[in-house]
Amino acid sequence: MSLPPGFLDELRSRLSIGQVVGRKVIWDSRKSNQARGDLWAPCPFHQEKTASFHVDDRKGYYYCFGCHAKGDAISFVRETENLGFMEAVEVLAREAGMQMPARDPRAQEKADRLGRLREAMEAAVRHFRMQLATGAGAEARDYLARRGLDEATIGRFELGFAPDARRGLFEALGGQGFPPEVLIEAGLAARPDDGGAPYDRFRGRIVFPIRDGQGRAIGLGGRAMRTDARAKYLNSPATPLFDKSRSLYNLAPAREAAGKGRPLIVAEGYMDVIALVRAGFEGAVAPLGTAITEEQLDLLWRMADEPLIALDGDRAGLSAAQRLIDLSLPRLKAGKGLRFVLMPPGKDPDDLLREGGAAAMQKLLDGAMPMVQLLWQRETEGHVFDSPERRAALDARLKGHVDRIADPVLRRHYDDALRELRYQMRRASNALPARRRGLPPPPSAPRPSTQRSLLAAGGSGPVPERLAEAAILSALLMHPSLAAEVEAQLESLEWSDPANAAMGAAILAHQDLSSEALRIRLAELLGAEPLERLDSLDHLAVMPFRRRPEDRESARLAIAGALDRLEAEQGHRMELSEAEEDIAGLATETLTWRLRDAAEARDRAVRAMQEDKTDYEIAENGARIDRREREAMPNWASTHPADEAAARQTPEKLGAPAVRISLPRY
Ligand code: UTP
Ligand code: MN
Repeated sequence: MSLPPGFLDELRSRLSIGQVVGRKVIWDSRKSNQARGDLWAPCPFHQEKTASFHVDDRKGYYYCFGCHAKGDAISFVRETENLGFMEAVEVLAREAGMQMPARDPRAQEKADRLGRLREAMEAAVRHFRMQLATGAGAEARDYLARRGLDEATIGRFELGFAPDARRGLFEALGGQGFPPEVLIEAGLAARPDDGGAPYDRFRGRIVFPIRDGQGRAIGLGGRAMRTDARAKYLNSPATPLFDKSRSLYNLAPAREAAGKGRPLIVAEGYMDVIALVRAGFEGAVAPLGTAITEEQLDLLWRMADEPLIALDGDRAGLSAAQRLIDLSLPRLKAGKGLRFVLMPPGKDPDDLLREGGAAAMQKLLDGAMPMVQLLWQRETEGHVFDSPERRAALDARLKGHVDRIADPVLRRHYDDALRELRYQMRRASNALPARRRGLPPPPSAPRPSTQRSLLAAGGSGPVPERLAEAAILSALLMHPSLAAEVEAQLESLEWSDPANAAMGAAILAHQDLSSEALRIRLAELLGAEPLERLDSLDHLAVMPFRRRPEDRESARLAIAGALDRLEAEQGHRMELSEAEEDIAGLATETLTWRLRDAAEARDRAVRAMQEDKTDYEIAENGARIDRREREAMPNWASTHPADEAAARQTPEKLGAPAVRISLPRY
């Protein structure tokens, strides 16, 4: 049927979309301005408590700020009444008092045919229910009772029974006036390949009626009672009424429950849904013998923001979960996600509820994993990431997933979450660079922190490193012969300060000189300034080797401690630069944002240190030490008990330096 030109414009101009929509929603009177045609209501397309659904009556369209549903009066009627375009136009034309053009006889025919199929479906549901209730159904009733289904449940789900007869339904419905073609088209009967007489599709099976969102019977599921049946479950084939990919078992009741705030749970099978509903989880649905489809996903997200996916705890269930992740990544939107309820191995919700009751299920629901975590698990579980190549491959895979997320905000959050998990893995594993090189782990326990805060904290790295370097140089200056013992380590040391590196090299080159001779030589080579700076460092002045210049052992201990510390710090730094590499590797548009964020945090930390001039401690030798500097004092620099005693007795000997040098600059 085609509409005359201008018909739709005329229809739209005659209609008030406010009136059309107003039949389905309750306007928020405080937010709405009726006079201006500015109308707000809770959205009829998704579950919400606030009124984010907006209707502009004058412009004739609606838009939901929550689920982004939008359209005009025609699409509204199509969506809410589940009508085709022409059907919706017809409804609205009648309402607007417009004469519809003469109906296409074929369309009329089609509508009539769908009507007949619907009638046949309802008749079949009635028939199978009756079979269950009568003598033929005794065995089936026993079976259902064994599975714990009571009368009320059987009634609520309209369970039926198809006896093992070749033409039971066919004849019963034929007797009610349904011709064979209708039964075949409705998927209730099938014609054999050889073209013989049609036979019942459902035989010897418990029958589960499948209804659409409007509660109309559209298909059937049938569970074999015999264990040797060809298929445990048999579902209606695709028919003009039944599109498996757009339907869900228990859809309408679950939508209602979800609308009341009950969790929307997606299980795998009919029996799971029934068990869940019986246990009080009324927002339960299941796909119909297929993997969850895009259309079903959209349907689910219209009902709830975060459907809970409760797939069986077996390999098939897990791989279904993984397929679902792949399917949903590109469709994720802010606020719309999935959570996964991991069933115990080999169990489905039905099993779990039978064994542990609603409490067991609730516990699992409470622990539902966000999708990002399952994604992570899939990419990492059972893998070992002990080489840069493997880690790079993981990064590439993760980046591939993140890139598939269309929504930029969500993409960033996924990126964050995956990076966090990646970082935690690195910490938890023995992939810490220091350990990889066979060195002891850093002396202090790693702070539990996010990667971002780690990046920010990167600014504090040089403080302990420079202190350690200064201690090494100072100790070597006093006891140049110690250089021979640590020559190899010093040579491979990555000095954080070029001036320190230069002095270290010079000391190594002149380790045979006496302390005094070495100082003179260094002053010639490098100028007096580096030596003076070293001599004036408060931190060093309080260390044992400086207090007892003759104590070579203290100097050796200080050097060893400082080298340990440096190696730990360098391990830490490598980790950090690896983290930064990760960022480059995963570079999305969030990169700049992330780095800026880290840089800002670092700046803040530096500012805080510079501003905090008030907080001093008095060192044992009387020198004022900034509290933060004091905190930066490494463990290895702590004084021996004996030295502390000495310090208390002869503080004046220690000679606090007159000049305090400022904190090393970053
Ligand atoms: P399951 O094999 O997990 O069965 O199939 P179940 O739900 O636990 O059934 P019970 O407890 O043994 O009765 C889950 C779903 O997969 C579809 C059906 O929709 C079923 O509910 N299925 C299963 C089929 O379509 N065909 C089959 O042969 C098996
Ligand atoms: Mn089961």
